[in-house]
Amino acid sequence: MPELSSEPPSEPPSGLLSDTPAELVGPGAGPSVEQGDYLPFTDRPFQLRMGLRPLELDRWLEVDDLYAEQLKARRALIEERPTEVVGIVDRPEVLAASEELWRLVRAVAPCPAPDEGIHPVVLAGLSTQEDWCILIPSGEEYYLGAACVCFPSRWVLAEKMGSSNAMIHAPVAHYEAQLGAPVDSFLRRLSPDRPMWRLNWNLFDDPALFQPSRPLAAEPRTTAPISVADVGERVWLRVERQTLRKLADSGAIAFSIRVHQRPLHTLLDRPAVLDRLRQAVLNLPEDTYRYKSLDAIGEQLIDWIDHNRSRSVEP
Ligand code: HEM
Repeated sequence: MPELSSEPPSEPPSGLLSDTPAELVGPGAGPSVEQGDYLPFTDRPFQLRMGLRPLELDRWLEVDDLYAEQLKARRALIEERPTEVVGIVDRPEVLAASEELWRLVRAVAPCPAPDEGIHPVVLAGLSTQEDWCILIPSGEEYYLGAACVCFPSRWVLAEKMGSSNAMIHAPVAHYEAQLGAPVDSFLRRLSPDRPMWRLNWNLFDDPALFQPSRPLAAEPRTTAPISVADVGERVWLRVERQTLRKLADSGAIAFSIRVHQRPLHTLLDRPAVLDRLRQAVLNLPEDTYRYKSLDAIGEQLIDWIDHNRSRSVEP
């Protein structure tokens, strides 16, 4: 993967300071961190965090050696399951904002999709490893007007279309109390010349990129339960790198989601990271633990870290 520049990050605008320590977030946060090496969990006491950082526009899209493969997967999903991966509210302002997003994406995507009369939000989704959501202003709020989401992390796009930011986040434990007002205020104040980015993490027992549904405890498992010995190969750290960019002409907000995932054995030579992950999982309140679908893997994960931690060496 490409080595990124070692330039220090520019100062976040006041009021939008990231509350995520620099060493946790990767690129833009320090020298020589590889793109995709995002480890955004913290061992501090649990709190949902905005974790926003200023986005340098030449890093809006992340392209890596999975580009061709993921674009092929995205095209297949869009052709075969369009109602699950594309959502469009049929209004002129939604089309105008989608066209604006596509103009920006087309200018920087390595291989922009041919424009064959397809909706512009889909063209954006066919050209990038990122998924796209477009939030349209409506009074003091924004609603989800157009989206192409091929790689959802256990949520259903159709349930969110037309919804406000607060309604979109309704299933997220502690969101309303800890993030609802700050995020709404951030969205209102976002300006075209100050795009931002943030990270979100999960631990999944399935590396499928298209994962719309959360496993239900009541459902019979289709795969063997995960044992402690399986954790390194079968549990995946799934990090979403999200960007938020206000579109200058339409006033809409382009929200991108880029999935990076790795099996946990890739962290075996980084004991300090495993320690932090262990503490982050132990710190989760019960409802968040459940929201993150950790019931089936959480205890095994802790045992696996303890087992390997006792044998590992600091790099
Ligand atoms: C500063 C802005 C935002 C913050 C701080 C934020 C924060 C969060 C957090 C903490 C979660 C729970 C993640 C987890 O534990 O797995 C979440 C979930 C989610 N967020 Fe956001 N978010 C932001 C903006 C957005 C925007 C603009 C959208 C637009 C569509 C969005 C869509 C979602 C969806 C669909 C989920 C999953 C909800 C579900 O489980 O049904 N977020 N967000």
